[in-house]
Amino acid sequence: MTRRPQKLIRPLVHRLHAYVPGEQPKIPGLVKLNTNENPYPPSPKVLRAVKKAVDGRLRLYPNPTAEKLRAKLAKLHGCRPENILVGNGSDEVLALAVRAFVEPGSKSKDQSPKSVVQYFTPSYSLYPVLADIHGAAKNAVPLKLDFSLPSVAELQREKKWDFRAALTLVTTPNAPSGRGYRMAELEKLCRAQTGVVVLDEAYVDFAAENALPLALKFPHVLVARTFSKAYSLCFQRVGYFIGPAALIAALDKIRDSYNVNGLGQIAAEATLDDLKYYRAHFKKIIITREGLGRELTRLGFRVLPSRTNFILVRPPLFPAKEWLQKLRDRKILVRWFSAPEISGYLRITIGTPAAAAQLVKTVRKILVSA
Ligand SMILES: Cc1ncc(COP(=O)(O)O)c(C=O)c1O
Repeated sequence: MTRRPQKLIRPLVHRLHAYVPGEQPKIPGLVKLNTNENPYPPSPKVLRAVKKAVDGRLRLYPNPTAEKLRAKLAKLHGCRPENILVGNGSDEVLALAVRAFVEPGSKSKDQSPKSVVQYFTPSYSLYPVLADIHGAAKNAVPLKLDFSLPSVAELQREKKWDFRAALTLVTTPNAPSGRGYRMAELEKLCRAQTGVVVLDEAYVDFAAENALPLALKFPHVLVARTFSKAYSLCFQRVGYFIGPAALIAALDKIRDSYNVNGLGQIAAEATLDDLKYYRAHFKKIIITREGLGRELTRLGFRVLPSRTNFILVRPPLFPAKEWLQKLRDRKILVRWFSAPEISGYLRITIGTPAAAAQLVKTVRKILVSA
């Protein structure tokens, strides 16, 4: 009997549109401003700690509960280790939330809120993929035109929003717009939801406010954080949830036993011992962000205000997709999204001041030759 591999795959997986990560090309001299990586390296103490750990111990399993890291995080955030779940990047903890809190079932006519993963658009483009992988229903509701959050009253009026959705994911500050949200407005939204609310704070270290107190106050709110962006550790894949012990315990039940690799744990622990180093870099990135925004505004770009390590800009003269290619031809890589509400924009990661200067110089050249 011949087995056809295609027949062995679940229909759900056949239909699935996988998440598309930003490109990681290895072009010499490329100015890479497309995936919101930090332009500054991890602190020397972190690099030393990781190098020191690379020896015969690699044959051993890492600590299964990231015990030391959770203890340090609990101290930093003023909670207990039982309030922390660490994952293989925050992507993993987001996926765990879908699996722990949402019933699969996207087909029923009267969609049960128990099967609904809800989020605003535009926001992190992984959310719909996680819902699809799980066979859950998606409720994607547009942000306002300026990417601000609709108020609870507006959401009630529009009638599209599901206040009973099993899981609501909010990117705050928002990606890809960069817009920051006030804790007060997030709190109102959290109060109105009966299901779990995840506040995805991947970029919060570049913002003026964070909503961590909500995860320590409400029984249904989790905050997701990551070491990837602000702490220059994309490579090591460490992210985490902070939230009520009962929800954390449920997530802990379903994660892989050794979900956080040993070197990642060591790197993250050493990061927390050297926060001063990172905070100095947040300031630099914010200064570069504001300066680049001013320069691009002068050159005719519409620059949206940002509380993150990237800016969303509407370029002049040509469509954004053409700008993507023109910049790429000149060895500058930025990000463009095809989703209609943002297809007129480019998302530019904030790099070093030198990278910003090169971008501005290149933009000027493109405009002059237009
Ligand atoms: C909003 C948001 N959340 C989470 C992540 C994932 O981060 P991590 O590297 O911790 O998986 C990203 C990465 O791009 C992001 O933009």
